[in-house]
Amino acid sequence: MSTLVIIPTYNERESLPVQLAGVREHAPDVDVLVVDDGSPDGTGEWADEAAAGDSHVHVLHRTAKAGLGAAYQAGFAWGLERGYDVLVEMDADGSHQAHELPSLLARVGEGDLVIGSRWVPGGSVRNWPTHRRLLSTGANTYVRLALGIGVKDSTAGFRAYTADILRAIDLHDVESQGYCFQIDMCWHVLRAGGTVVEVPIEFVERVQGASKMSGAIIREALLKTTLWGAGHRLHQLAALLPARRAD
Ligand code: GDD
Ligand code: MN
Repeated sequence: MSTLVIIPTYNERESLPVQLAGVREHAPDVDVLVVDDGSPDGTGEWADEAAAGDSHVHVLHRTAKAGLGAAYQAGFAWGLERGYDVLVEMDADGSHQAHELPSLLARVGEGDLVIGSRWVPGGSVRNWPTHRRLLSTGANTYVRLALGIGVKDSTAGFRAYTADILRAIDLHDVESQGYCFQIDMCWHVLRAGGTVVEVPIEFVERVQGASKMSGAIIREALLKTTLWGAGHRLHQLAALLPARRAD
C-alpha cells in the first residue's frame, strides 16, 4: 500500500526539520507532502531544499495562509491524483510523534479513518495547559452530543484515511477552514457509511513556534457543529412523521 503523509505548515521553520526526519526514520517507505502557505519564516524554502535531496519528499506551495482545511484539501487532491492508497494528516510541530505513525498505519485495514486519539484509554496529552485540555475535552463532548456520534477525539489532527473513503466523500462539500475541518471530515466519513477506528496516542505540546489556534477557529467549530447537529435531528424527526399523501 502506498502512503502519503501530508504535513501542513505555517511558520514551522524550527519544527519541520525534526518532524520530517522523524517520519523518514520511523516510516521510511512513505512519501511526505509538505503543504506550505507561504510561511514568511522560510519554511517553504527549507522544504524545497529537503525535497531536492530526497525523492520521498514533496512540497506544495500556496500563496497565502488560508487555514488548515484548505491546506489539507489541496494535499488530498495532490495525493489522490497520484494514486496513493492511504493519506495521513500530521502536524509539523512534533505534537504527533513520528514513532507512533507505524502503529496508526498498522490499523488502516480495520477502518476507513484511523484517528490517533488522545481521549481513549491509553491516550494522553503531555505539557498542555489546562485551558487547552478543557477546550479539547469540552469540544469533543459537545461534538458527541450534538452529532450523536461515538468518536472520542473528532478534533484530532493525527489520522489516516483510505483513498477509497476520500473518493466516496464529496470533498467539495467539506468547506471548513480551521481545525473544524477535522470534525467536518469525521462527520462526512460516518455519513458516507465509513468506519472510524481510534488508536491511543500521546500528544506532546510543541516546544518550538506557536499554535495557530484562534477565537475565529473555535467559533467556526461551535457554529458549524451546532448547525450540523440541528440539521441531522430535523432530518431524523422528519423521517418519523407519516408521509403526506398528495391527493
Ligand atoms: N498550511 C497551513 N495553513 N498550515 C497550517 C495553518 C494554515 O492556515 N494553520 C495551522 N497550520 C499547521 C501548523 O503549521 C501545524 O503544522 C498544524 O497545522 C497544526 O497547527 P497548530 O497551530 O500547531 O495546532 P494546535 O497544536 O493548536 O492544534 C492541534 O490540535 C487541534 C485540536 O485538537 C492540531 O493537532 C489540530 O489539528 C487539532 O485540530
Ligand atoms: Mn500544535
